[in-house]
Amino acid sequence: MDLQHLTPSREHDAPIYLQLYRRYREAIASGRLNPGDRVPSVRSLASELNLARGTVEVAYQMLVSEGYFMTRGTSGTVVSPHLGNLLEPDHSAGSALDVPPAPLLTLRSSEALPFQLGLPALDAFPRKAWVRLTGRRLRTLETVAMTYPDAAGYEPLRRAIATYLGISRGIACSHEQVFVTAGYRGSLELICRALLQPGDLGWYEEPGYLLARHFLEHAGMRLEPVPVDEQGLNVAQGQQQAIDARFAVVTPTHQSPTGVALSLPRRLALLDWASRRQAWIIEDDYDSEFRYHGRPLPAMKSLDRDGRVLYNGTFSKVLFPGLRLAYLVVPQAQVDTFRIAAAQYSSAGSNMTQAMVADFMEQGHFTRHLRKMRPVYAERRQHLVEALTQVMGERLQVQPQVGGIQVLTHLTTRHNDKTLAAAAWTQGLAVHALSNWRTQPSDQGGLLMGFANFKTKEEALTSVRALDALMAETGEHEAL
Ligand SMILES: Cc1ncc(COP(=O)(O)O)c(C=O)c1O
Repeated sequence: MDLQHLTPSREHDAPIYLQLYRRYREAIASGRLNPGDRVPSVRSLASELNLARGTVEVAYQMLVSEGYFMTRGTSGTVVSPHLGNLLEPDHSAGSALDVPPAPLLTLRSSEALPFQLGLPALDAFPRKAWVRLTGRRLRTLETVAMTYPDAAGYEPLRRAIATYLGISRGIACSHEQVFVTAGYRGSLELICRALLQPGDLGWYEEPGYLLARHFLEHAGMRLEPVPVDEQGLNVAQGQQQAIDARFAVVTPTHQSPTGVALSLPRRLALLDWASRRQAWIIEDDYDSEFRYHGRPLPAMKSLDRDGRVLYNGTFSKVLFPGLRLAYLVVPQAQVDTFRIAAAQYSSAGSNMTQAMVADFMEQGHFTRHLRKMRPVYAERRQHLVEALTQVMGERLQVQPQVGGIQVLTHLTTRHNDKTLAAAAWTQGLAVHALSNWRTQPSDQGGLLMGFANFKTKEEALTSVRALDALMAETGEHEAL
C-alpha cells in the first residue's frame, strides 16, 4: 500500500496516532489493504513517516485490540485474516472482532507488569515448599509419571479437589465428578464437546469475561448478552430475551468484571429456569478464595438439586497460571458423557504436574497458602485504592468489591477507555478497558486494574502517577 495514504497531518486537530489509526481503518474498509496483508513494522513506519515510534505503537495497539490487525511474532503484523466482509464494526463496544491486544493475554516481560490482571502475587508464593515437594517427585520418577494419564485427571488430585470443594465451597461431590483440565478454556472446551453443539444459544454476562466470550464464540456458540446490575446477572431479563437458551455462563461470587455477587433470589431463579428448560449453568468460580469481608455465598453448585450446574474452578489464582490447571465438576448423571468426551480430547496433560499439585494440597500447603494470602491481598488492594484516591481524586471511581485480585474503576472524565488502555500498554502499564468486556454500547468507560503485585504503597503510587500523566497527555473528548 502507498504510504502516502497513511501520512498524518500536523495541522489536523486529532492526535497523530488517532489519524494513523483511522487511515488504516479507511484503507481496510476501502480495500486498499486486504485481510492477510502484511503492514510495515512500527520501527519502519515511524522512520518512513518521520513519527515517534510510541505514536505508531499506540495506533497499532488500537488496531490489534479492535481486531483489525494481528501480530504474528517475528513474522510481523498483518491485517487480520478473520475480517472477511465485516469491515465496519461498532466501536462503542466490543464485537466479535474484538480480540484483546496480544500482550493482554500473555506476560511478555519476565516480571509482573504494573496493574497486570489475573496474576496472583508471584513474590508471595511459597517457592521453597513447592521446590522441595516437586523436586522429590522429579527425583523419584515413579511409574505413574511415565504412563499415559487418565483423560479425566490424576485420581489423587481429583480426590483432593473434591475434598477441598466440600470444605470450602459446600459442594458435595465425588472425585468421579471432577475433571482436571488445562485452564478454564480447557473446561469450556470439554463442556462444548460433551453437551453443546455449534450454534447453541447461551446467556452471557454483559459486561462479562472477555476471554471466555471469545472462546465460546470461536467454538460456534451464539451468545445473548444479558445485563448485570447491582445484584449480578438479571435473570428475569435473560428469560425475556432468550428463554429457550441452552446454557448460561455466570461468575456468581465476584462477577467479572464488576465484582458484584449474584443475589440469592437470582441464584434460585437461575436454577429454577435451568431446571424447567433443561438448560446448563456454567458457573465460573475463578477467585472465590479471596474475600476480605464476610463469607461468600455458597457456590451455585451447592444448591443444584437437579444436576444443571457445571462448576468451574482454576489453580491460576490460588497457585499460579503457568501451571495451566483448572477443574470442572459435572452432575453425577453426566459423568459418563464427560468421560467419553474427555477420552477424545486429552485435556489434563501431564501426570507429573498434577501429582505435584495433589501433594501440595494433601500436605496442607495449599490451605496454609490461601490463609496467608487473604490479608496480603487485602493490604495490596488498599495500596492501590489509596494511591488512586490520592492521585486521581474524583476522576476515577473505585467500585466497591468484597474480594478478588483486581479492581474496577469507572472514569468520570470523558476519556475513551480503549484509547487510554492502549496508550497505557505502550508505557508498560497493563490496565484493561472496560469497553472491551462489553458487546453493547455504553457511556460508562472504565479501567480494570490488577493489584496483586503492588508490594508497597510507593509501588502503587509510582504506577498510578504514570497513568495519571498519560491521562493528561491523552486528553478527553476523543470521538473515534
Ligand atoms: C473470570 C475468569 N474466569 C476464569 C479465569 C481462569 O482462567 P484460567 O484457568 O484459564 O487461568 C480467569 C482468569 O483470569 C478469570 O478472570
